[in-house]
Amino acid sequence: MSLPFNQPYIGTEEEEALIKALQSSHLRGDGPHTKRVQQQMEEWLNIHHVLLTTSCTHALEMAMMVLDIGPGDEVIMPSFNFVSSANAVALRGATPVFADITPDTMNIDPDSIADNISDATKAIVPVHYGGVSCDMDAIMQLAEDHDLLVVEDAAQGVDAYYKNQPLGTIGHIGCYSFHDTKNITCGEGGAFLTNDDEIAARAEIMREKGTNRAAFMRGEIDKYTWVEEGSSYIPSDLLAALLEAQLAKKDEIKKKRKQKWERYRKALQPCADQGKIVLPEIPAHCESNYHIFYFLAPSAGDQERLLRAFKEEEIPAAFHYVPLHSAPYAQKLLNEQPDLVNTANYSNRLIRLPLYPGLNLTDEFLDRIVRIIHDTISN
Ligand SMILES: Cc1ncc(COP(=O)(O)O)c(C=O)c1O
Repeated sequence: MSLPFNQPYIGTEEEEALIKALQSSHLRGDGPHTKRVQQQMEEWLNIHHVLLTTSCTHALEMAMMVLDIGPGDEVIMPSFNFVSSANAVALRGATPVFADITPDTMNIDPDSIADNISDATKAIVPVHYGGVSCDMDAIMQLAEDHDLLVVEDAAQGVDAYYKNQPLGTIGHIGCYSFHDTKNITCGEGGAFLTNDDEIAARAEIMREKGTNRAAFMRGEIDKYTWVEEGSSYIPSDLLAALLEAQLAKKDEIKKKRKQKWERYRKALQPCADQGKIVLPEIPAHCESNYHIFYFLAPSAGDQERLLRAFKEEEIPAAFHYVPLHSAPYAQKLLNEQPDLVNTANYSNRLIRLPLYPGLNLTDEFLDRIVRIIHDTISN
C-alpha cells in the first residue's frame, strides 16, 4: 500500500470520546462538549471568545458578515492562498484584492498590502502559511494607520505563535480549521475567535441562523426570533467530543511533527548547500506548529520534473496553491490582473512532502528523496 500524504492522529481516546458522546444522546450542537472545548480554548489561548464552527471556511464567512463587508468594499489577502477567504469576500458582493508574498515564509508581504490599500479597503486577511506566522506587527500597524480590520486565516496556525502570542488571537478575528488534514482535527470543523464582545455577540447570532436562540438557551430572553442575517454554522456536539480528545494530545502531536520536520530539514540540508533546492526558514520570533514541510525547486520546470520523479517512486509529494489571481473565477471579479512577481515565481517551485505524527520517516525513505533531488536537478 502506498504511503498517504496526510493522516490524522486518531487513537482509542477519540473512539471512546465519540462513543460516550453518542450514548449521551446530545447529538446537536452547543452541547456539553462544545461548551467545554470553547472554554478550554479560551483559557489556553487567553482570548475572550471562542465559537466552534462547522469549518474554517464558515468562520471566515461569519467574519465577513459580522464586519459588514459588502458591495464596493475591498479586502486584501495573499493570492498564494486557499480559496475560502476569497469566497467569503465574494459571497458578500465585495472584492478580494490579491497581494504578493515574501519568499522566506510564503506569507503575505506587508509592503504589498500597503501598495494595495485604497479608499475602499475595509479589511486584511493574513494567512499563516504552514503554521508560520505572517509579520503581524507590520500588519497590525498598517491596520491601525488605515483604520482597517484584520481577520487572521489561522486555518493552518493552531498551536503556533508569533512573539509568544497564539496565531488567531492577534487580529480582530481569528479563524481556525479542524479539517482532517490539519494538525488538530475533528474531521470537519473550525473556530471563530475574538476578544471583541460586540463582534462575539453578533457572531453568536449569525452562527445560529440569525436568531437570538443562544441567549434564549441561557434563559436571558423568553422567546427567540430572527434578529440578523445568519446561517447554520454550529457543529454537532459529537465533533466537539472528538475535538476535545484531540486537543488533549496537542503537545504530543506537535512534538512528533517537529521531530519529522527537523529530520527532513537535516536530510535535505546537503541538497540546499549544493544549491539544488531552497529550504524553508522559521523566523526567530515565530514558533511553528510544523503543519507543512516544503522546499523550493530552482524553477517551475524542476518542480514538474521532481513531482513526476517522486510519483514514479510512489513518494507522495505535492505542489500547493495555484495563485488565486490567476484562477478563472478571479478573472470575473478583477478589473485588472495584479503583477505579483513573488507569487508567480515561488508558487510553482514549491513542493510539499508528507508530514504527520504517524509518518514512518525512515533513513531509507529520506535517502530516496535526496537521491531523486540529486538525479533530477542538474546544476
Ligand atoms: C489557509 C486555509 N484557509 C482556509 C481553509 C479552509 O478550512 P476548512 O476546510 O476548515 O473550511 C484551509 C483548508 O485547507 C486553509 O488551508
